[in-house]
Amino acid sequence: MKSTAWLSLLALAWSVDANPILGLLNPECKVVHGECPHENITFWLYTNSTRDNPVLLNPLDLNPWDFQPARPVKILIHGYTGHRDFSPNSHIRPVLLDNEDVYVISIDYKPLVPDPCYFSAVQNLPLVSQCLAQLINNLVDRNIVPNENIHIIGFSLGGQVAGQTANYLKRKLKRITGLDPAKPMFVLAGNTSRLDPGDAEFVDVIHTNVFGRGILSPMGHVDFYPNVGSILQPGCREESPDSPGSCSHDRAPQFYAESINSTTGFWGRQCTSWLAYIVNLCPTTGKQELMGYHVSQETKGSYFLETGKSAPFALGKQEDVDNSQTLAQFKLNPELNEIPPDYEPQLLEAFLELDALKAVLNTDGSDLDKQLNWIGREDDEPLARAKL
Ligand SMILES: *[C@@H]1O[C@H](CO)[C@@H](O)[C@H](O)[C@H]1NC(C)=O
Ligand SMILES: *[C@@H]1O[C@H](CO)[C@@H](O)[C@H](O)[C@H]1NC(C)=O
Ligand SMILES: *[C@@H]1O[C@H](CO)[C@@H](O)[C@H](O)[C@H]1NC(C)=O
Ligand SMILES: *[C@@H]1O[C@H](CO)[C@@H](O)[C@H](O)[C@H]1NC(C)=O
Repeated sequence: MKSTAWLSLLALAWSVDANPILGLLNPECKVVHGECPHENITFWLYTNSTRDNPVLLNPLDLNPWDFQPARPVKILIHGYTGHRDFSPNSHIRPVLLDNEDVYVISIDYKPLVPDPCYFSAVQNLPLVSQCLAQLINNLVDRNIVPNENIHIIGFSLGGQVAGQTANYLKRKLKRITGLDPAKPMFVLAGNTSRLDPGDAEFVDVIHTNVFGRGILSPMGHVDFYPNVGSILQPGCREESPDSPGSCSHDRAPQFYAESINSTTGFWGRQCTSWLAYIVNLCPTTGKQELMGYHVSQETKGSYFLETGKSAPFALGKQEDVDNSQTLAQFKLNPELNEIPPDYEPQLLEAFLELDALKAVLNTDGSDLDKQLNWIGREDDEPLARAKL
């Protein structure tokens, strides 16, 4: 049976007795309906010289002079409970402005994703995505920014916003980067709701909290798993004893920021899958690829690497260790060879989603599983219809 069939079964098992009354929801948690532009979804333009006084962009009345001279445009998208000065902005924007000749646009949709409103936050993402797409479509339609100069970088829920934005864009983007894209309510979601390789010509993803807030399965053309994308990144227990999971989640934007001007580099090695990696069935010699801002757009597949415990995190190139004999042995074992590369992680992930949600919402989660799937299912349809 294919893994997707298993997932559908799981979804069914969860949804038969799903209760569509969202009793869990706090009255403060609003699903916002509205038009773009929207007063609570704002866009802030930063340059090296205006980093303390960003320009508030009006998507309907853009000033071409704000984007002169021509430079690449990097769009940063925060996640749940974030804002324009929160991660990934706080990590990445200063390094970009210090080291690269670029424009940075930070989106801010804080009022739509307040704590503890994770469910409504997820339901508000299509509106956020639509408004971001409106800005991008107008920038390109009016020849203010060439489409190929635009690169979206989204963290957590922002990674999913990046994927959804593609639904409303007139032209395919050159590149999207997903930084530990959010898991809760996205495991079973379709491609219209979540980041996938169809969303841009090149989609690169970094996974740092795959047993927690981030998605485990590959979502891009290339997926990097620093420290196995583990629930606990090195250094996080010491650095953040109360919340090692969110510290691990936040490593993705930290690594990415460092990758912009690192001279050491985060070098990863390819392996067929996450599962193969954890059971040591990956080559430990051969070609390595750079993770992060300077990743080669020719790179495809899943890559694995280790990092340090604190900044600077990059460890440079990995040593070659010849394990070809071990690999050969395992290839002879018919049982192991029959594990389809992504089967177990996906199945595992559907169950882990619930735990991630409990962590995010800080509850014991009774009934969360039902809510989770009910909303997840409902979400896909309207979004697909809205596709341009
Ligand atoms: C990278 O840039 C940041 C400032 O944005 C600086 O603090 C850091 O030292 C730089 N790293 C290297 C390796 O030059
Ligand atoms: C940004 O401005 C500072 C001076 O404020 C300058 O040293 C630095 O080179 C500039 N960075 C870029 C990328 O232009
Ligand atoms: C914007 O957010 C504020 C604060 O949460 C809220 O009072 C207001 O109604 C929101 N505006 C719209 C158009 O949703
Ligand atoms: C979603 O995207 C993935 C990767 O591009 C693709 O393999 C899969 O067939 C897509 N699924 C659907 C339902 O379009």
